[in-house]
Amino acid sequence: MRIFLCKLWKYKIFQKLKEATNLHEQVTNGNDKLDPTILSTPIHDAESSADQEVASGKEDSILTNRQGHPIDNNQSMRTVGSRGPTTLENYDFIEKITHFDRERIPERVVHARGAGAHGYFETYGKVGDEPVSKYTRARLFQEKGKQTPVFVRFSTVIHGKDSPETLRDPRGFAVKFYTEDGNWDLVGNNLKVFFIRDAIKFPDFIHAFKPDPVTNIQDGERIFDFIMHTPESLLTITFLFSPWGIPANYRQMQGSGVNTYKWVNSQGEAVLVKYHWEPKQGIKNLTQQEADQIQGKNFNHATQDLYQAIESGNYPEWELCIQMMSDDEHPELDYDPLDDTKLWPPDKFPFLPVGRMVLNRNPENYFAEVEQASFGTGVLVDGLDFSDDKMLQGRTFSYSDTQRYRVGPNYLQLPINAPKKHVATNQRDGQMTYQVGGAPGQNPHVNYEPSSLGGLKEAARTGKEYTPWVEGNLTRQTIERTNDYKYAGERYREFEDWERDDLINNLVNTLRTCSPHIQQTMTELFSKCDPDYGRRVAEGLASAGRANADTEFGGPLGSSHTAEAVTEAERTGHPADPY
Ligand code: HEM
Repeated sequence: MRIFLCKLWKYKIFQKLKEATNLHEQVTNGNDKLDPTILSTPIHDAESSADQEVASGKEDSILTNRQGHPIDNNQSMRTVGSRGPTTLENYDFIEKITHFDRERIPERVVHARGAGAHGYFETYGKVGDEPVSKYTRARLFQEKGKQTPVFVRFSTVIHGKDSPETLRDPRGFAVKFYTEDGNWDLVGNNLKVFFIRDAIKFPDFIHAFKPDPVTNIQDGERIFDFIMHTPESLLTITFLFSPWGIPANYRQMQGSGVNTYKWVNSQGEAVLVKYHWEPKQGIKNLTQQEADQIQGKNFNHATQDLYQAIESGNYPEWELCIQMMSDDEHPELDYDPLDDTKLWPPDKFPFLPVGRMVLNRNPENYFAEVEQASFGTGVLVDGLDFSDDKMLQGRTFSYSDTQRYRVGPNYLQLPINAPKKHVATNQRDGQMTYQVGGAPGQNPHVNYEPSSLGGLKEAARTGKEYTPWVEGNLTRQTIERTNDYKYAGERYREFEDWERDDLINNLVNTLRTCSPHIQQTMTELFSKCDPDYGRRVAEGLASAGRANADTEFGGPLGSSHTAEAVTEAERTGHPADPY
């Protein structure tokens, strides 16, 4: 009997694997009409749909619990008499309430507030005027017009999951490409530069910008205490405190990969690349005053804007451009090209269009798709590679590490994160295992490699292996060409007058809450960028006067009158009697 059951089970698996093979063939034959969700159907589904046949009546709209038991009273707990007490055997109640108690997962440690949308990327097949294959063999970029499904998540960085979308903060711009070769994640920001250039500083940088651990209020004193020791951040700070620090919404902002990657062609030759998303909707930024007004009316305005635009068929679109340079140290530059606190000047390294992205479908469930979405800089496909950029390498460890904790060890089995192609691994088990990672035709007894019994086999190499030469002393050092001030000064001069005015106002509003030695050092640093920059901050601080440290600490970056808001709430509040 046992042998019979075992054979029956094997037969069922075989049937299911055959089905899966057919599906896989449809996909790899390029049938793009196929519903991509089919591919994420777990292996057990044939069995569970058979089980559903057993369910009496198959009335789809009947409420059940997770055990499949029909719920015929969802209004009252089971109690002794109508006034209680309740009893502990209330399975339906306990299942419902305990699941509810676990509805939240840890929010992202950064970029917690976000909105997402589905769409597609369409390649031009070219990079500028040249065939893209000259520089990369990544298949998603090849034939002109080829489309790849994408999921994008936009975000703010510092504050919590439901914080206002009007805050001064970089905006995240993370794109997951579901390519035929598996997923590629391009995890970027709206600003094209970053605050730090060494990944070991990331927790310090984020701690300084996060709310104070005692008051739970973001505090300029802590931020500039860190920044005054981190002059490489000055270009990004100059952007952040200008109107570029508050994009009007997610549709009308740029995106950038910030860090440097590589493209590899079929001869195994590599170039350095930076990625940029340019919005077809144009770019719009807000002054602090405008953002304050908007926040008073709606603190979800960017999420709402994106959702409504897509619902009404006004699909946002971006062009993907790359900048490219040869993979060497470029001694002719006065900075290191792998330094993510610097821009590559577009006159020397022009923006070359490679494709466009359209967002045309809203998520059906925010939690399943947006909250559980997991992007990482390590997620590349053949033809794309890492550069030696130290930040990028640090990031690459951090993303999947946090996601194994935040979402769980099987986070890649969730439909939003799973590639839309066959997956066949020998990984097994772990919390919330939903799929067995086997392949069509794989012997289910073999979850190791190599094997002669029908296990998984290594893939054939698709192009010449890229094997960069690496040598050097293991060391802890900063890069040589730091050049921390020049480009912040250039940016200051390039701003329009209204942008420069807003920048100075916002810096003064935040710096006036800081200790004199921090104000002094920051003024000196701005003067090194441009004497006029330092002079205007110093004059602004002198005329604004130092804030009362007991009452005027903290508050949103760039905003003023934060203490006034506290007293105003008390003064204007309407008295009410207790009841
Ligand atoms: C060493 C530096 C960095 C480290 C260690 C780091 C780490 C992290 C971590 C742990 C998360 C949360 C991920 C999650 O819970 O799913 C995250 C999210 C994110 N990071 Fe970074 N990050 C770094 C630098 C950057 C830079 C330079 C950018 C911009 C290019 C960036 C863009 C993002 C974005 C857009 C998200 C949100 C992704 C999403 O929407 O889920 N990060 N980062």
